[in-house]
Amino acid sequence: MDVLLGAQWGDEGKGKVVDVLAPDYDIIARFQGGPNAGHTLIFDGRKFVLHTIPSGVFREGTINLVGNGVVIDPVTLVKEIHGLEAAGVDVRRNLLISRRAHLILPTHRALDAASEAEKGSGRIGSTLKGIGPTYMDKTGRNGLRVGDLELPDRMDRFRALTSKHQRLLALNDRPGASEEAAEEWLGAVEVLRSLQLVDSEHYLDQALRNGKRVLAEGAQGTLLDIDFGTYPFVTSSNTISAGACTGLGIAPNRIGRVVGIFKAYCTRVGSGPFPTELHDDTGERIRQVGHEFGSTTGRARRCGWLDLPALHYAVMINGVTELAMMKADVLSDMSDLRICTGYKVNGQVTDRMPYDITGTIEPVLEAIEGWGPLRTDDPLPPGLERYIAMIEAHVGVPVKLVSLGPDRDQTMYRSGVLVN
Ligand code: GDP
Ligand code: IMO
Ligand code: MG
Repeated sequence: MDVLLGAQWGDEGKGKVVDVLAPDYDIIARFQGGPNAGHTLIFDGRKFVLHTIPSGVFREGTINLVGNGVVIDPVTLVKEIHGLEAAGVDVRRNLLISRRAHLILPTHRALDAASEAEKGSGRIGSTLKGIGPTYMDKTGRNGLRVGDLELPDRMDRFRALTSKHQRLLALNDRPGASEEAAEEWLGAVEVLRSLQLVDSEHYLDQALRNGKRVLAEGAQGTLLDIDFGTYPFVTSSNTISAGACTGLGIAPNRIGRVVGIFKAYCTRVGSGPFPTELHDDTGERIRQVGHEFGSTTGRARRCGWLDLPALHYAVMINGVTELAMMKADVLSDMSDLRICTGYKVNGQVTDRMPYDITGTIEPVLEAIEGWGPLRTDDPLPPGLERYIAMIEAHVGVPVKLVSLGPDRDQTMYRSGVLVN
């Protein structure tokens, strides 16, 4: 099994690269996160944004598996399925859902909103999809799982957890979830029950034994990881390669390649530290040219220079074997580019990610030359090749794919192919 994941703060372009690589795999499997994710795919003049369904869905014959580590909101999932079906995509035939995946209830969304309101100015900037409360119920051993929907007492279980949440919300004078939301959820559950529910750990074990090729698709990014991200401004799952093992039930020694996706610059949506953030016209220019607005929430993404210490950290934590660089085209017409090669913490320069990057950390920036326009048919311009060489030298792994635009076809391989 190979793993593909975000090496920054999410929205690196994972959806695009999974779609590009999917023909080389039999199964694409999401292993964590939920509808907080928004993975964009563009091909043949069409654009799709996926939230729960893996990004192999547009490739004929590819199996798309939603693993046990994912949290599923039946309402969003069913909307996504209907949207794809309306666009002529036969989703259900090749879609498998793990029975062990946990369910997001309407009250989880209400709890998410309550938690953010409680935090006030210290809020995470959550997508408010109910992700945190659902993972809390999972680790708190209260959660409802997809497999529970096959049990005769499923309604009782739903009502019991819902009323527990509603009591908690009422106690704190926070709005609960409406009865209409509960009805909508129950309606969506009937559709979910009709999908192919599997014991995905056994399914994947058998598939791997039969020589099938599996690509695990990450959501969010390394710096949003619950353990290794910029805590507490993170999401509630393990977004790193280890998360692919727990989120799919696949042993670590079955992982082959680990593909880290990064942008030629950095973005972050929501609150939290961002050492290379640009608060000036340059940041605004990157946002406009790169269309840096959230795929899930539409929020403006914060933009800044590429952060090599953070990228190096992501390579280390994930065991990244190769990198894919996205959106170099966005910086094409810009001069006065910078790259962050270290951090100044208390007057000391370090290229290590410190425990806490809030507050007094200052990025050490180096000027880099620009590279002008990029064309898929031409070799990469020397300025961009030098930029890539600098990145490779710093983080110690090759950049094997360069993306030159949002379309499936605007993709270039460097030094051989990305997959076996
Ligand atoms: P994901 O969450 O990692 O799948 O990334 P998103 O889909 O949230 O955000 C990436 C955005 O960049 C999407 O709008 C993509 O269409 C777009 N994109 C991906 N690769 C490129 C690229 O190389 N150049 C440009 N200009 N846009 C890209
Ligand atoms: P993809 O898969 C970028 C951010 C939110 C917030 C924090 C916690 O498209 O890369 P949550 O909803 O999980 O409680 O939010 O994480 N976040 C993402 N940022 N891309 C994502 O997913 C994200 N999913 C969550 O903005 O700061
Ligand atoms: Mg996204």
